[in-house]
Amino acid sequence: MNTVSNAARSDGKATHRAPTAVRFENIHKSFGVTPILRGVDLEVAGGTTTCVIGPSGSGKSTLLRCANLLEVPDSGRVLIGEEAITDRGADVDSIRTRVGMVFQRFHLFPHHSVLNNVTLALQQVLGVPREKAVEIARRRLAEVGLAAVEDRRPSQLSGGQQQRVAIARSLAMDPEVMLFDEATSALDPELVKGVLGVMRDLAQQGMTMIVVTHEMRFAREAAHQVAFLDGGRVLETAAPDALFDSPQSGRLREFLDQVL
Ligand SMILES: Nc1ncnc2c1ncn2[C@@H]1O[C@H](COP(=O)(O)OP(=O)(O)OP(=O)(O)O)[C@@H](O)[C@H]1O
Ligand SMILES: [Mg+2]
Repeated sequence: MNTVSNAARSDGKATHRAPTAVRFENIHKSFGVTPILRGVDLEVAGGTTTCVIGPSGSGKSTLLRCANLLEVPDSGRVLIGEEAITDRGADVDSIRTRVGMVFQRFHLFPHHSVLNNVTLALQQVLGVPREKAVEIARRRLAEVGLAAVEDRRPSQLSGGQQQRVAIARSLAMDPEVMLFDEATSALDPELVKGVLGVMRDLAQQGMTMIVVTHEMRFAREAAHQVAFLDGGRVLETAAPDALFDSPQSGRLREFLDQVL
């Protein structure tokens, strides 16, 4: 599998690979009788970052979770590169390796060191030998600025540092796509910057990213595209400057008035 060989390379460099696009086609999803996603179409070009904004309850998290099958759409298709992951028989484990996700809460293993938080899935899911997994983990921890704390437990880190460990853990799997669901919402304001900095670096390196966020400045500065979700539909997508400076719909104008 592509991702295994990448993660396991001995020189620690990812092999060249074309950036992976993500496409949502007419996604519908209800919980019980309540429709949450009502025909979402969204295209994220390979190597670009799309920020998803919208009111609470509009379906942002649900949409994101459809991109790694934490939720299964009732109808419509999600494509990761060429693969329609919503087709019957899709390999969920392989999809979750290709599509990394970072949540508002960090979900680190409290009894493991920072280093082992990053190596565990490499060893257990990808079968990477311990020595190699440690090498990959150290490189990823260095990328998020945490080389010095690999022996600590998560409880001995700030929230911002814990979130960066969670990002390093996800990146260690060498994903093609990264999903972020309000990755900075649980953080004290002074810790937000470090995490957004890591995300910005990733975007600049050409990772394909879908970022649900309330950080409008990040969306404006780091995203290639911003999508406004409202009532389970994408009402507008545009380049950030266009979307923020010339919203087309009354709903988006109203939303921006509230959050800006
Ligand atoms: N597993 C579930 N079962 C039932 N209802 C759900 C489930 N997950 C989400 N919902 C409902 O679906 C709606 C959309 O939820 P979702 O979490 O996708 O919204 P959101 O845009 O991410 O909101 P927020 O900005 O508050 O995170 C909400 O009304 C929520 O209560
Ligand atoms: Mg949400």
